[in-house]
Amino acid sequence: LSQLAAHHLPGRRLVVISDEHVSAVVRHDLSVDRLTFPAGEASKTRAEWARLTDAMLALGFGRDAAVVAVGGGVTADLAGFVAATFMRGIPVLQVPTSLLAMLDAALGGKTGLDLPAGKNLVGAFHQPAAVLVDPLVLATLPEPEYRHALAEAVKHAAVADAAHFDWLERHADAVLAREPAEVEQMIRRSLEIKADIVEADEFECGRRAVLNAGHTVAHAIEAASAYRVSHGAAVAVGLVTEARLGERLGLTAPGTATAIAELLQRFGLPTQLPTELAPEDLLAFMRADKKRRDAQLRFTFVARLGAVAGDQRTGWTHVVTEESLLTVLGRR
Ligand SMILES: NC(=O)c1ccc[n+]([C@@H]2O[C@H](COP(=O)([O-])OP(=O)(O)OC[C@H]3O[C@@H](n4cnc5c(N)ncnc54)[C@H](O)[C@@H]3O)[C@@H](O)[C@H]2O)c1
Repeated sequence: LSQLAAHHLPGRRLVVISDEHVSAVVRHDLSVDRLTFPAGEASKTRAEWARLTDAMLALGFGRDAAVVAVGGGVTADLAGFVAATFMRGIPVLQVPTSLLAMLDAALGGKTGLDLPAGKNLVGAFHQPAAVLVDPLVLATLPEPEYRHALAEAVKHAAVADAAHFDWLERHADAVLAREPAEVEQMIRRSLEIKADIVEADEFECGRRAVLNAGHTVAHAIEAASAYRVSHGAAVAVGLVTEARLGERLGLTAPGTATAIAELLQRFGLPTQLPTELAPEDLLAFMRADKKRRDAQLRFTFVARLGAVAGDQRTGWTHVVTEESLLTVLGRR
């Protein structure tokens, strides 16, 4: 890591930011100042951002500094936002250590914090100088963290690459067993897919919305369950539910929802809405969420495996009525 960091951030004074847990289990050879914060989503706050930036000032860091974010998605977002804002912005090297951060959070430049009113409500686009992935650090990642991230790999394949979807089906057992070659191949393809989409639409004005597939329903499940359902599990259910909705609206090829559900099940992920979450409650959270964006409920639909419904001309999202949504949410 020290050589790669020197290569990507020449002449910079580096600070490594990690959560306490990653700092204890993930080893690297960067002998620079290290700042840590308590592991978990609860640290993605303004208070933690203030503490980290104060600590950097106290250590004498200036405009020639750079951040090396070593950790999961929380570190990617929090340390990325520190870098985006410290001295009006210094470079960040993203070194993801959780599968979710490797597949998703470390790439694309979105950084930010949670507020009491909701997740990711303060943030900035701040592209990393580089993203360095070493899949071998996944050896210590707890099984649920690993499995739940696989929902994002399924999402990437479903929206952009039918051949990769097919590859995931054929290599599901090897992926679950964390076979290094298959894990690396899976991460590489996800990163290529995400990079391709983000390059076309860095600031999420259009095509980047396809990466939200499954996420409208997922966010409602997370919120309605008071975050007892993990993000990955919620995305898995969201992908299947939204594909069913797309099939109902004639935007998604019949059988797509079942194919997505079968692959998610092989990864041990849920595909049915939790029975204790009432359709009306889920809808209420989607309504509250949409108020922050525009007046309508909008979804990105998988048209068939590897392709989304929509294009540059017609747009990437589709307005959905509450009636059709309620029908699908009510089907358990
Ligand atoms: N910016 C983006 O584009 C983007 C995309 C997706 C998710 N996110 C954000 O990512 C966050 C979730 O990420 P996450 O699931 O990685 O959470 P996380 O960073 O909290 O990591 C999960 C847990 O795994 C531990 N861990 C990480 N790497 C490990 C390793 N190699 N060995 C052992 N333990 C390890 C962490 O200490 C933590 O306890 C959310 O806040 C979400 O909003 C951001």
